[in-house]
Amino acid sequence: MSDNYTDRNLAMEIVRVSEAAALSASLLVGRGDEKAADQVAVNAMRRSLNVLDITGTVVIGEGERDEAPMLYIGEKVGTGKGPKVDIALDPLEGTAITATGGANALAVIAMAQEGGFLHAPDVYMDKIAVGGGLPDNLIDINASPAENIRNLARAKKAEISDLQVCILLRDRHAELIAKVRETGARIMLIGDGDVSGIIATAQEDTGVDMYMGAGGAPEGVLAAAALQCIGGQMQGRLLFRNDDERGRAAKAGITDLSRVYGLNDLAHGDVMFSATGVTSGAMLRGVRRFAGGAITHSVVMRSKSGTVRTIEAHHNFNRKPFVD
Ligand code: FBP
Repeated sequence: MSDNYTDRNLAMEIVRVSEAAALSASLLVGRGDEKAADQVAVNAMRRSLNVLDITGTVVIGEGERDEAPMLYIGEKVGTGKGPKVDIALDPLEGTAITATGGANALAVIAMAQEGGFLHAPDVYMDKIAVGGGLPDNLIDINASPAENIRNLARAKKAEISDLQVCILLRDRHAELIAKVRETGARIMLIGDGDVSGIIATAQEDTGVDMYMGAGGAPEGVLAAAALQCIGGQMQGRLLFRNDDERGRAAKAGITDLSRVYGLNDLAHGDVMFSATGVTSGAMLRGVRRFAGGAITHSVVMRSKSGTVRTIEAHHNFNRKPFVD
């Protein structure tokens, strides 16, 4: 097996990893147990990662080593026989969605050469993102929502009322939502899942033109990995609520706490990304289960080639027993 990262399209291998996590999590859809749903996804993702011929290090994972026993930040994964890679993952993006049977839960994994991802601590990140094919430096996290929306409308030669901004429905976003409404732009409020909210800006048929607001910083890195592959612009700034969170940043080697991270700071190099739907949403269909099998729907991307594959996999549990 080659040790050269660029020789192999690992994206084709990591799709099996996100599929495994989604298949396991799908058993817990609507069952009201967020923790159990997350745990089975973690177990399955870890198990399938550990048979890949890679020398992997988790840099965006389930948390610090002392709080997450599996897929914690710094955990070594893979057989240790292949190329050195950094891994960003979220075995279940949308634990609450899964527990309630809502839309848009995903299993997500991204890979890059060593150093390819920002080692983002588990704090909030203020984010702004748009899709590809737009003038460079179009968005500015320091500018007002109105200014960003006006600039996007101009670039898209659209009316502001044509635009739709995706925002997480949270109390902390009341002011942001009011300011966006003042501009006349439309808003898609989502209950959870800003990875797919951000990716939606880069996909034509979602109707989402811009993403704004604060969500998890690790999710910001995962979304950036996808945008590196499909094209788009993104900025993020870490948000700290207390000294514990500032301490997490220090531990991750971050010294400039107010730094604005661009897309390349969040994820760069030969980035590969795979997401499998757990529940159906704008981007992917959820796992469809039936007697003896299931169908998964995944999107797999690689920044080097720009190839985006959607993969519908028919799993036969009679041939390959389903583990969880
Ligand atoms: P989980 O799957 O970890 O619950 O994350 C879901 C999510 O909605 C993310 O997409 C988002 O970045 C984050 O939670 C927002 O955090 P909060 O729910 O605290 O506002």
